[in-house]
Amino acid sequence: MKPRILQNGRLMPALEKSLSEEFDLHPLWREADPKKFLAEHGGEFIGLATSARVGADAALITSLPALKVIGSFGVGFDTIDIDAATKRGIAVSNTPDVLTDCVADLAFGLLIDVARGLSASDRFLRRGDWLRGAFPLQTRVSGKRLGIVGLGRIGRAIAKRASGFDMDLRYHNRHPAADTPFVYEASLPELARWADFLVVASAGGPETRHLISAEVIAALGAEGFLINISRGTVIDEQALVEALAHKRIAGAALDVFEKEPHVPQALLALDNAVLLPHIASGTHETRQAMADLTQANLRSFFKDGKLLTPVI
Ligand code: 8YV
Repeated sequence: MKPRILQNGRLMPALEKSLSEEFDLHPLWREADPKKFLAEHGGEFIGLATSARVGADAALITSLPALKVIGSFGVGFDTIDIDAATKRGIAVSNTPDVLTDCVADLAFGLLIDVARGLSASDRFLRRGDWLRGAFPLQTRVSGKRLGIVGLGRIGRAIAKRASGFDMDLRYHNRHPAADTPFVYEASLPELARWADFLVVASAGGPETRHLISAEVIAALGAEGFLINISRGTVIDEQALVEALAHKRIAGAALDVFEKEPHVPQALLALDNAVLLPHIASGTHETRQAMADLTQANLRSFFKDGKLLTPVI
C-alpha cells in the first residue's frame, strides 16, 4: 500500500507527477469544499506535501490527526506552524542548500541592477529617452561596503560573490557566526549606517518581522541601497515606500513583499525600486533539485523514519 499523502496547494507539475507515481497523493486544492473534505477524510493522511509559499497552518495540521510528516518545497518554513507540528511529533522537511547559489546569484543581480540602474535604463531606452540624451550616472559597486543581515547559508554565498567585487563586508545576526572572517556588527542600525548596500538574507517569521524598521532604513541613508531576497515581512514595507518616495534612501531591490503577489501601488511608481516576482530560486535546475529533495525527504521518511533535511 502506498502511503497516503495530502497535497496542499499546487506544486511544480513534474513534482506533482512524480509524487503521484510514488505515493497515494490527493490534491486538496482540487476539492470544491476543502473543509468538508478534511472533516470526512483528514484522518486518512499520514503525509502532507506542501510548499514554502502555501505552508501548513495549525488548522490544517489539526484536521490531519494521523499526520506524521510534512515535506515542504522551499527553504523557508515561516508559513508552516512548526509549534503545532512539534507538539504532535510531526517531522518537517524543507529544501535547503540546493537553492543557495541561485538565490545568492539573484541577490547580486538585484544589487548590481539597483546600483547601476539596469532595469531603469532599460525602461529609459525603450521609452525612447536615449534619443533625447544620456542616461544619468549611477553608483559604483566594486570596492563598496556590503552589510549582510543574516549570515546563514545564503548570506555566506552572497559574501562569497561579494569578494569577487572587492567589497568590504560586515554582517548582523542574532549571535556572531562561527568560522567566518567577517566583522560582526551587533547593532543593525550601526550596520546600516556603515553599509553602502544592505542585503537581507534572514529567515522570515514573527522573530524577524519588521527587523528592517524605519530606524534601520533611516540609518542606511540617502546614499544607501536595500536588497531583499528573504521574506517581505522582514522589512517595514510602508516605511520603505516612504523612504524611497522621499529619496531618504538611494534605492531598493526586492524579490519578496509583505502580501505577495500584491505589491504596493506606491512602489510600482518609483524608478529607484527594482521589483521582482519572487523568482530567486526560479531556475529550471534549482527548482528541479528542490522537487527532487522534497520527494527524497518523503521517501526517506517512509523508508526508515528519517528525513534528509529536517526543519525540526
Ligand atoms: C520558493 C522560497 O520559490 O524556498 C523558499 O523559501 O521562498 C522560494 O524558493 C517558494 O517559496 C516555493 O514555494
